[in-house]
Amino acid sequence: MKLLSPAISLLGVISQPILAQFTFTSTVEHNGVPVPQAETDLKPFKPGTLGRIRSRTDDDSGPEIGTTTLRRVKRTNPTANSNNWCGSVQSTTSSNQIKLVHGTFQHPTCTQRPGVTQYPQAAAAWIGIDGDSWTSALLQAGTVCKINNSTGIVENEVWWQWVPNGAYTITNIPVFAGDWFDITINTTSSTAATIKIMSNRGYTYSVNAWQGATLARVDADWVVERPYYGSTLAGFAQFTQVWFQNAYATLTSGTSSLGITGAKQYQIPGGCASAEYDNSKLYAAVAA
Ligand SMILES: *[C@@H]1O[C@H](CO)[C@@H](O)[C@H](O)[C@H]1NC(C)=O
Ligand SMILES: *[C@@H]1O[C@H](CO)[C@@H](O)[C@H](O)[C@H]1NC(C)=O
Ligand SMILES: *[C@@H]1O[C@H](CO)[C@@H](O)[C@H](O)[C@H]1NC(C)=O
Repeated sequence: MKLLSPAISLLGVISQPILAQFTFTSTVEHNGVPVPQAETDLKPFKPGTLGRIRSRTDDDSGPEIGTTTLRRVKRTNPTANSNNWCGSVQSTTSSNQIKLVHGTFQHPTCTQRPGVTQYPQAAAAWIGIDGDSWTSALLQAGTVCKINNSTGIVENEVWWQWVPNGAYTITNIPVFAGDWFDITINTTSSTAATIKIMSNRGYTYSVNAWQGATLARVDADWVVERPYYGSTLAGFAQFTQVWFQNAYATLTSGTSSLGITGAKQYQIPGGCASAEYDNSKLYAAVAA
């Protein structure tokens, strides 16, 4: 039998001129047992940033990809094009802010997209708060696949980021194609939040962050992203359809919650299409 060791926190303090006091602690559990600090491997995501606030400029539409067989979808939501975001963004007003965002999704199988010359090729699936209409901060958590173009080896990781601070990854949490992730981002104020990432392999990664860049808490995001690595857009890998389920956001008023119905659907022309399935489900899929 395994002995329970006391929960151990990792303390990360980042000194950046703009956000000198951004601070977080994090813990990892496996099947309810805390992973000792000495065995945890939390590190800054190289080269420092991963997710990005939605970009409006279209600097590479990429090659055309064969059509994907889609399940029944509603197409009543407003759509818009993006350079890097594919998925749903639901909005609220500053007088009734988002408290919490939740989503469940299956990390996709990623393969090299033929004809793409940018490396690495990557695709990131995440949920988050802000970064669309509110562009000075974004709090997000999810998974990413990255393909080494020499070896074809696909690396899969869990990560989170409070933009404009850099991203973090925890390599203790194994991520394989097809694994399920259940993620909750729960704000306690516009500058503090907890993040909980659970996987179907029994891992729970909990982050408690504060003094982050001020969120407006007006955008709830469920996105598959063509990520940036540093300041450069990665090549957009091919990925199996990502279905976000149990997608909802709760509001600070406590009286109602937001779902996918009526959310803006971002598309990446030549890269990815997204659509609502119902109020708690949406998909993002490789598309021409
Ligand atoms: C790809 O893998 C090879 C062999 O392990 C390694 O030498 C190379 O640095 C990797 N490339 C990238 C971009 O990580
Ligand atoms: C992989 O990408 C690097 C950097 O773009 C490039 O120099 C190299 O030729 C590529 N290798 C292959 C096998 O495509
Ligand atoms: C979210 O945080 C609040 C405190 O602000 C707490 O009462 C609540 O239980 C949390 N909800 C979840 C789902 O973690």
